[in-house]
Amino acid sequence: MAKTPSGSIFVCASCGCESTRWLGRCPNCLEWNTLREEARTHSGALKNTPKGTPKDTYIQSQALSAIDARNEERIKTGYSEFDIVIGGGLVQGAAILLGGEPGIGKSTLLLQLASAFASLPGQNASSVLYVGAEESANQIAMRAARIARDEKTPDMQILSTGALEDITNAITALSPRLVIIDSIQAVYTSALHASPGSLSQVRECAWMLTEECRARAGTLIVSGHVTKDGTLAGPKILEHLVDTVLYFEGSRDRELRILRSVKNRFGGVNEIAVFTMGEKGLHEIADPGGVFIEGMPKIGSHGPGSILTAALEGNRVLLAEVQALVTPRVSGSIVRTTDGVDANRVQRVRAILESQLGMNLGDQDTFVNVTGGLEINEPAVELAIAAAIYGSARGLCPDSRLIVAGELGLLGDLRRIPQAEKRAAQARKFGMDACILPEANSGEFRRADEGKETSVLFAAPSSSPSMATRDAHVLFAANLRDALAIIFPEN
Ligand code: TYD
Ligand code: MG
Repeated sequence: MAKTPSGSIFVCASCGCESTRWLGRCPNCLEWNTLREEARTHSGALKNTPKGTPKDTYIQSQALSAIDARNEERIKTGYSEFDIVIGGGLVQGAAILLGGEPGIGKSTLLLQLASAFASLPGQNASSVLYVGAEESANQIAMRAARIARDEKTPDMQILSTGALEDITNAITALSPRLVIIDSIQAVYTSALHASPGSLSQVRECAWMLTEECRARAGTLIVSGHVTKDGTLAGPKILEHLVDTVLYFEGSRDRELRILRSVKNRFGGVNEIAVFTMGEKGLHEIADPGGVFIEGMPKIGSHGPGSILTAALEGNRVLLAEVQALVTPRVSGSIVRTTDGVDANRVQRVRAILESQLGMNLGDQDTFVNVTGGLEINEPAVELAIAAAIYGSARGLCPDSRLIVAGELGLLGDLRRIPQAEKRAAQARKFGMDACILPEANSGEFRRADEGKETSVLFAAPSSSPSMATRDAHVLFAANLRDALAIIFPEN
């Protein structure tokens, strides 16, 4: 087994976990083959005073009551959806990390953001410093012209280099209000012997840049490529360094893009914004509630295995389609893949279907997808996964436009989900016939005779009338079996 020579260390490219010896699998994030040998450094090593040197001045503690507790002032970027995701606007001196797979649109988003910010009242030609560490100044200018949409691009400072010293020099000289570094993996300092893109370079440079911008009260945004196999020093190792972590998601071959905040020292997390990537850059979608089910085939023209759900993302409810395909095993080993939902969650739902409904899925290949590149991480998606798998395995389609949402207990019970009323309202807004929710949420809805907005029918499984005769928008089920009886009435 490899052992480190003194002064070097093995660091996981995926999560930043450190080990004194090489391991095939990271003990922290359990990824395989992600440990890389690095020179031993510490954040700030370049700036540290030698040990034992007395400091000239010491920072004094102060009374809590004497500290100004006002909220940070927020600067609106001119990109309203982006502002929602970061909690209301940019905070001076804060650092933001924008992660995403190569080609997803990070550079495009950052350049559009830079232009929007530079054209705000009160900004001048050096308010924004855009560092394109991977592209020539000419390439950046060409992209800026492409996304300007026939309008004049506001002026800003462009720097095409990866050399940290050049970048910090520019920051010192200009004191910009917004500094954009695209990408941090292409930035390096000659003070370290490690190669550009290595963990120690990425960490050290990011640390120096955040310090530099914080000292000048400018906002720093750095982009970082994420690769699933951990071949690049992942932005994960920078997450603790920055105040806000955003991820840009979606699939490259489809035009929808989702910007999601996963950490935010200055606001809520899991807020999302949805964009489409077009000929002239990214367009914000102001009301993305129904965008993921747009253009779906009409009920009846769809094969079995498709179910609509209402997913909660931050404060928003998005309608989405969950698809399942269950087929007899094709090759020697069973294939189970998922896209947009967690594989363990699907595994659990399969087990519940087998134990509670006596289905035999053991010898079947199972594929589960969320369409449009959306990822749904909340448990409320479980009822839709179950209904999609059930529909595919039994060849059944719902005969009306339904939204289903509910968390599944291991015994097939349906658990209460957050914001049920908001989901039902979104279903109604997009013209759905009904919304099926856990009975445990029913108390949050007003009865039909009390309120006019929501008509509610408590569906008893034994007397389940056909959908067409129901005058109800919201139906409740206590368990999986009852819910499936409502979703597939002819079953
Ligand atoms: P890019 O922003 O370079 O991605 P990243 O920085 O995350 O690697 O964008 C990549 C893709 O977007 C590229 O394939 C071209 C496409 N694109 C458009 O479709 N329209 C546009 O206006 C621009 C600028 C890019
Ligand atoms: Mg790029």
